[in-house]
Amino acid sequence: MEKQIDLGGMFTLPGTSINVKRMGYGAMQLAGPQVWGPPRDVDAALAVLREAIAAGVNHIDTSDFYGPHVTNQIIKRALHPYPEGLVIVTKVGARRGEDKSWPHALSRQELIDAVHDNLRNLGLDELDVVNLRVGGAMGPSEGSIKEPLTVLAELKQQGLIRHLGLSNVTPKQLVEAQTITEIVCVQNFYNLAHRSDDEFIDDLAKRGIAYVPFFPLGGFTPLQSSTLDAAAALMKATPMQVALAWLLQRSPNILLIPGTASPEHLRENLEAAALKLPTEIITNLEPINKMPEAFTKSSVTG
Ligand SMILES: NC(=O)c1ccc[n+]([C@@H]2O[C@H](COP(=O)([O-])OP(=O)(O)OC[C@H]3O[C@@H](n4cnc5c(N)ncnc54)[C@H](OP(=O)(O)O)[C@@H]3O)[C@@H](O)[C@H]2O)c1
Repeated sequence: MEKQIDLGGMFTLPGTSINVKRMGYGAMQLAGPQVWGPPRDVDAALAVLREAIAAGVNHIDTSDFYGPHVTNQIIKRALHPYPEGLVIVTKVGARRGEDKSWPHALSRQELIDAVHDNLRNLGLDELDVVNLRVGGAMGPSEGSIKEPLTVLAELKQQGLIRHLGLSNVTPKQLVEAQTITEIVCVQNFYNLAHRSDDEFIDDLAKRGIAYVPFFPLGGFTPLQSSTLDAAAALMKATPMQVALAWLLQRSPNILLIPGTASPEHLRENLEAAALKLPTEIITNLEPINKMPEAFTKSSVTG
């Protein structure tokens, strides 16, 4: 893709000079099957990243536990030295077990090691934004996040991290976090069919904090719904484009990081930023929230 396209306008992370386009890219799908090991086609993975940047994407979401290490090394190989203005957001707080599980890695030493792994594998001296990922496999769970967040705040003080965010958290955990450090973004599970964060998003919007839904297309089991198909037919778009356009219109603080290993899907997803859904289509889509047919089975891993 030679031409830069409308990527949904810009969003400034609160209290920072970081401006990101609202349509970004999530790199998790670039590792091998089950986010484990190298991808089947490394050249295709490199090409997807380079095409995203050529189209104007300036926000990539990743983690060193994708692969593990694989996704960050592919990003570095494809894009280093990084173009001016590219914002790479990573996350820490989990690791991969030999059985491909995603256990917590929230001890002081695990967090320090994870930040250094990200720096080394991305080829950076400082990470733009690091999300602290907590919670359980089925979603956020209440409980103090003071200890791990304090470790990351210290690493920020040391100049290894510019800004901090949270992932898989509750509103109460955000309140606690803000007594420790500034939080610029929240990354939680949210899409047309999974809307438990509706109130949280509205509250974050009032405070100018970015909300970055993970699994915007349903994650490991992409969204399927005849209601979505009907809206897509009316819009002369694909169902995935409608799902992404709906998110962009849902709230001005929503930033998108759809994941794909396919250049065709990448183009399709980026073009969704220019799709404007009329009010009646948005109303038609509303029932998907309550329809079993659109349920996604993804557990909260990643
Ligand atoms: N904080 C967390 O705990 C957490 C958890 C999960 C993910 N994340 C982040 O969120 C990002 C997005 O999540 P995700 O990639 O898991 O899920 P997603 O964006 O909801 O969906 C990705 C899935 O949809 C498919 N897909 C993408 N575009 C498509 C299109 N236009 N048409 C049809 N299928 C399409 C992909 O397959 P193809 O490759 O075939 O296109 C893949 O199977 C990740 O990359 C990661 O950075 C964070």
